[in-house]
Amino acid sequence: MPSNYDRIGGARVLTAVVEDHYRRVLADPTLAHFFTDVDLVRVQRRQVEFFAAVLGGPVRYTGSPMRRVHRGLGITRRHFERVVYHLTESLAAARVPADLTAVILAALAPLAGDIVDRRVTRGTPRGSGSRIWVWSSVFGSTA
Ligand code: HEM
Repeated sequence: MPSNYDRIGGARVLTAVVEDHYRRVLADPTLAHFFTDVDLVRVQRRQVEFFAAVLGGPVRYTGSPMRRVHRGLGITRRHFERVVYHLTESLAAARVPADLTAVILAALAPLAGDIVDRRVTRGTPRGSGSRIWVWSSVFGSTA
């Protein structure tokens, strides 16, 4: 039986989806600032690996754990939902079947706990969130 990775069209389709996704994210004024100083080539390559692994592909994710990558960036639940929204649009644009889209979205939902910064409740510019995180990690705040 073909894996979900094969069904989606393997690395070729995943790469196209991730590229389209980043075009949408960078065109979104509520999200673009997160990526100003980021090596987008590296991030997109790792995103492709991440989704390939989620879909049972013969690919190992070589990036850092989600919590470490996103820690201190000041990502709110609203940012998270917008990123997922753009991804859903990219999957639809690539004509990915609904059941595969559901597999991907189901795998992403539980990651919110690792990606959303619980110390911010509203949009915070990249940078200020990390100061909040560093402070609370030093002083052990659980807020
Ligand atoms: C929806 C679930 C998400 C997944 C699966 C995901 C996955 C990833 C992956 C695989 C990387 C590369 C890791 C590495 O280089 O080791 C990354 C980096 C990054 N992500 Fe996410 N991400 C998600 C949501 C978000 C959201 C909501 C934001 C902000 C609005 C965000 C902002 C970033 C930034 C700024 C980086 C680069 C960090 C750096 O290199 O300094 N991500 N993400």
